[in-house]
Amino acid sequence: MSGHATPIPMTARRGGALRGVAQVPGDKSISHRALILGALSVGETRISGLLEGQDVLDTAAAMQGFGAEVTQDGPGAWRVHGVGVGGFAEPERVIDCGNSGTGVRLIMGAMATSPITVCFTGDASLVKRPMARITDPLALFGARAYGRAGGRLPMVLVGAADPVPVRYSVPVPSAQVKSAVLLAGLNAPGETVVIEREATRDHTERMLAGFGARITTEVTDKGRVITLVGRPELRPQAVAVPRDPSSAAFPVAAALLAEGSEITVPGVSQNPTRNGFYTTLVEMGADIAFENPREEGGEPVADLRVRYGALKGVEVPPERAASMIDEYPVLSVLAANAEGVTVMRGVKELRVKESDRIDAMARGLEACGVRVEETEDTFTVHGMGAGNVPGGATCESHLDHRVAMAFLCLGLASRAPVSVDDGSPIATSFPAFEALMRGLGADVGG
Ligand code: S3P
Repeated sequence: MSGHATPIPMTARRGGALRGVAQVPGDKSISHRALILGALSVGETRISGLLEGQDVLDTAAAMQGFGAEVTQDGPGAWRVHGVGVGGFAEPERVIDCGNSGTGVRLIMGAMATSPITVCFTGDASLVKRPMARITDPLALFGARAYGRAGGRLPMVLVGAADPVPVRYSVPVPSAQVKSAVLLAGLNAPGETVVIEREATRDHTERMLAGFGARITTEVTDKGRVITLVGRPELRPQAVAVPRDPSSAAFPVAAALLAEGSEITVPGVSQNPTRNGFYTTLVEMGADIAFENPREEGGEPVADLRVRYGALKGVEVPPERAASMIDEYPVLSVLAANAEGVTVMRGVKELRVKESDRIDAMARGLEACGVRVEETEDTFTVHGMGAGNVPGGATCESHLDHRVAMAFLCLGLASRAPVSVDDGSPIATSFPAFEALMRGLGADVGG
């Protein structure tokens, strides 16, 4: 969906303590993959707990464009009747992935080894984001891409009629790139090998194995070597999507910031390739407990119990970046309310997300009275101590859901209210954000 929604200004104010249970939505990464792998299976995949954010709805519509039947049975309950590996039809219309980098990149991978021609586009944020990181490896399979300058959308991708398997070392720590190559490898004969120096989220590997592909991961001194045998018959699955640790980060942060709070966030994925934010919170001295650890939908999950308390600044090491890449905006808000300095290293990938997240957070934090420093690859926030941020500014969300939610969390702890110019992007990943936060007692609204 690339239409420009009317901007929705939103404001958050300091108020009472937050209390209650926060049922956060299903994991965005797993939701995209469940729809795509369902479409690549022969028969009917059933999904429960699907995130019904706009990003995922755009992927569902795209899968219909490729010939899969996608049906909603109830809230979070979906069925995908797939066409099988190599069975994608050529869509009649442009595939519009809206705001979603994950959606467009994974779908490009999934179609790149089929003899079809597809035109992709997205919203004002997505058309600025780099796609060469995807189309370069897809060219090795035999696919051809024709995009705007700098490899930007809109773009036409001509799938390889006679694909060859590929051995590819991912040059940037990106699960989207790794996943696009693996999905392309599904319809190439022989073995496709992806090597990643730094571990990134491993949902694609876990789910491909669950759908019956032969895939192995070997940990070597060069990094993770992932080998996929092409042309499997994927078997439809029942996918139970765990709750998203990246969305959970917002109510968790709000509870850490609003004096006297105590909340529970049940069933949150604690996949070790995703939980760097929670490791960092523990190092900052956060009062957080991980209760009832168990497995759900093939992922480790826990119930999080979070209480308000003082935080201290920390150094976040570069090797942790991939496991918390989407959590840095809200971490910078917590850092502003901590005692001492927080230094986030190895974070240059933040510059090519839905917005340049270092720049977006730095400008908004400065407008709220916080001292920050940045280099290309480092973001430093000078903490002012709990509740001491002046606030009183309107911050720009730059069409970025996580930037908008992070500044609204800041408003819950600041001396004066904090506004965002546009909260509409929040619907891409967390449509019930405002209702959930208000249900906990937060003063957040449009
Ligand atoms: C995602 C990977 C990450 C993350 C995005 C979701 C995924 O992007 O930022 O929100 O589902 O694979 P990169 O892989 O480009 O770092």
